Amino acid sequence: MMAALTRRRAIQLLAVGSGGIALLGLYTWGFEPHWLEFTYSDLPVKGLPSELEGKTLAQISDIHVGPQVDDEYVIDSLQRVAQLAPDFVVFTGDFVTYRHPRQLEQLSRVLIFFPQGRLGTVGILGNHDYGLNWHMLEVANHVTTIAASAGITMLRNEAATFAGLQFLGLDDLWSPCFAPQSLLAAKGQDPSTIVLCHNPDAADLPVWGQYNGWILTGHTHGGQCKPPFLPPPILPVRNKHYSAGRFELSGGRTMYISRGVGHLLRVRFNVRPEITVFRVRAA
Ligand SMILES: [Fe+2]
Repeated sequence: MMAALTRRRAIQLLAVGSGGIALLGLYTWGFEPHWLEFTYSDLPVKGLPSELEGKTLAQISDIHVGPQVDDEYVIDSLQRVAQLAPDFVVFTGDFVTYRHPRQLEQLSRVLIFFPQGRLGTVGILGNHDYGLNWHMLEVANHVTTIAASAGITMLRNEAATFAGLQFLGLDDLWSPCFAPQSLLAAKGQDPSTIVLCHNPDAADLPVWGQYNGWILTGHTHGGQCKPPFLPPPILPVRNKHYSAGRFELSGGRTMYISRGVGHLLRVRFNVRPEITVFRVRAA
């Protein structure tokens, strides 16, 4: 009698456990990867022209158009940004997960919906935009052309100024084109400047000269899965502190790491996808 009860209890527990695991799987695969969160933050910029006080800047990162992320989800996310009518839109890398040239056609179709900032729209490349092993220059050039056709001013170790706000766009750290020194030396001390840089590890390299402003980054996806109260176990960065959010760095620099919109493998747990809306202020 006792043995039968214990066996029945064990089967019940197993059923509850399996159900829990199935639910967790459904959540991490089917729900959280598309549960976009808009986050809001101030962005104090030194030397900001007074007419830009209070303007909005939307940061979109890591949409990863390709075989893993649903186009409808990305398009919906882009349209939600457009509805906010931000003054500036910045994209901080990883337009695609490149496996095949057809991803470039896919990107062209999705980027039709890329929101335009009222004052400026600017973007940089990430490692995945350089194709396999981050070294396919022809893929990077093609992604750049597609993004430019979608109205994004693409910066590859270049600067662009919109309505008095200057953006310095660095090419990707893991690509063959990471060479920010001369740009940062020439423009890093200009007032009213924001740096876009895909990989937060670049912040630890001795390339920043006198730059003492904001660095907007992505790349980590926040680790995609994170146990409560603990750091994410998998982060594609050398500096394991760089998961997501705001970091005060040496030399007066401040970095923001976006959790990004898309994913590599379709799993997210406790790390919702993110689009950040900053309010630009004079520092
Ligand atoms: Fe990414």
